[in-house]
Amino acid sequence: MTETRGTAGAPRSWEDLADRARAARERAYAPYSRFLVGAALEAEDGRVFAGCNVENASYPVGTCAERVALGHAVVSGARAFSRIAIVTSGAVPAPPCGMCRQALAEFGRGLEVMSVGTNGESVVWRLRDLLPANFSLERMAAPAETGS
Ligand code: THU
Repeated sequence: MTETRGTAGAPRSWEDLADRARAARERAYAPYSRFLVGAALEAEDGRVFAGCNVENASYPVGTCAERVALGHAVVSGARAFSRIAIVTSGAVPAPPCGMCRQALAEFGRGLEVMSVGTNGESVVWRLRDLLPANFSLERMAAPAETGS
């Protein structure tokens, strides 16, 4: 499910990215919620990494589509991303959940996030607006030595 930009190098449209997310949604494993989600994460080098939600009989073990796409990207060597398209089986566009916002923010809050509902509406956000203050490595700085 990895695809590089066409040889012509034409910019990929949001609709193309949403089509990749829609194809990933076909693979969603969501027998418990029946809420199907597909995501397509575009790396800065043009590659696209797909993900779908993968649920589990032990409910908290389930994983969201966005984090499956992110893992797919990272194991393929991509760490810089420009856009993510999310397509769900819900009527209205759904933004990524808080856990996915934090996971994506690890790699930059400039990411553009588009979600599409089955009603045909789409919304685009910047990740920094969805998660204004992520927890990050800089926040883990050790306190200065007090000497005591
Ligand atoms: N889900 C996602 O895949 N992404 C989100 O950002 C929100 C929720 C999935 C998790 C679960 O399988 C189903 O949607 C219902 O919560």
